Amino acid sequence: MDTLGPRCSEVGLKGKCLIITDENVGGLYAKTAKRSLEAAGFSAALETLPAGEQTKCGEQVFKLYSRCVEAGLDRKSFIVALGGGVMGDLAGYVAATYLRGIPFVQVPTSLLAMVDSSVGGKTGVNLPEGKNLVGAFYQPELVLADLETLRTLPQREYRAGLAEVVKYGIIYDAPFFALLEENIAPLADVENTELLAKVVGRCCEIKAEVVAQDEREGGLRAILNFGHTAGHALEKVAGYGEYVHGEGVAIGSVFAARASVALTGLAQAECDRIEQLFANLGLPVRAPEYGWADLRAALSVDKKTVGGMPKFVLASAIGTVSFGEEVPEELMETIWKKL
Ligand SMILES: NC(=O)c1ccc[n+]([C@@H]2O[C@H](COP(=O)([O-])OP(=O)(O)OC[C@H]3O[C@@H](n4cnc5c(N)ncnc54)[C@H](O)[C@@H]3O)[C@@H](O)[C@H]2O)c1
Ligand SMILES: [Zn+2]
Repeated sequence: MDTLGPRCSEVGLKGKCLIITDENVGGLYAKTAKRSLEAAGFSAALETLPAGEQTKCGEQVFKLYSRCVEAGLDRKSFIVALGGGVMGDLAGYVAATYLRGIPFVQVPTSLLAMVDSSVGGKTGVNLPEGKNLVGAFYQPELVLADLETLRTLPQREYRAGLAEVVKYGIIYDAPFFALLEENIAPLADVENTELLAKVVGRCCEIKAEVVAQDEREGGLRAILNFGHTAGHALEKVAGYGEYVHGEGVAIGSVFAARASVALTGLAQAECDRIEQLFANLGLPVRAPEYGWADLRAALSVDKKTVGGMPKFVLASAIGTVSFGEEVPEELMETIWKKL
């Protein structure tokens, strides 16, 4: 966090900025971030918003536009998103649209934000009708992930972030998956900065490689949704907030792995390894309490559903996946009921 100011100078940013954060993260890191920016010659204003997904909405966007005017931000000024994915998506969207776009910097402080939402250029907010329905593709000038901030992240949020980490192994990198399997206990230790740097770095590389090949989600980028089809449906059926996102992804990944055994030749032993790794990392891999009819209905309204048939990312081996796959009705139901 101390290096934020100098890093912003290095990438050519100048003048005024507005730091946008939430009250959890702001209380811990905003002072240091602001001080670092001011010491490097920037004039930094600060806006602290309530924490949580509800803050990622249109109302906050318009309040923030006014805040930008009040802070005197012009086209050359920039916005700093300090926090988890909620702050990154919201502040990024404000940066993408205020004065038709001003530079912005991501300072992700949750594991999910470090390995996922701060990379790839998607910004946006929710509508009452659904999540992430408004947004823009907009790349930050700089992403600065300070691994030490993970020490204050709630355990449950940290573990949920690990679900996305495992996802990268499944979709892209079998040796990385094996590295995770061999480091269960070290991964639980947020002070193991050396391992975390390697792990977070590799996830960002994978996401960047995938996104570079398909920035606007015409095809390949869809592989990043492994485990997310059933995961999102479960989050919805359970009621948002019951499961944190990564927990839904863990269960959804087991669903996808089992479908992969039946349809795309994933070896049963590899399916078992996937399930075991999530479980060893303290993530849920079972969801018995919700009925199939509700889950099926939620699957039909997924953003990526075409003609009522949900599309899945399936694996043929750990490290190799295909997207846009359909799973026959009966098979979906059987897998869910056994989960
Ligand atoms: N843009 C993308 O490509 C992309 C990808 C994945 C997810 N997302 C979005 O990201 C959001 C989820 O992100 P998230 O899981 O980071 O949620 P979040 O931003 O709500 O953070 C989770 C919680 O942890 C707290 N927190 C964050 N960092 C902390 C720290 N270092 N110390 C103490 N508390 C800390 C936050 O205040 C919050 O209460 C969702 O809105 C999702 O849609 C976007
Ligand atoms: Zn996700």
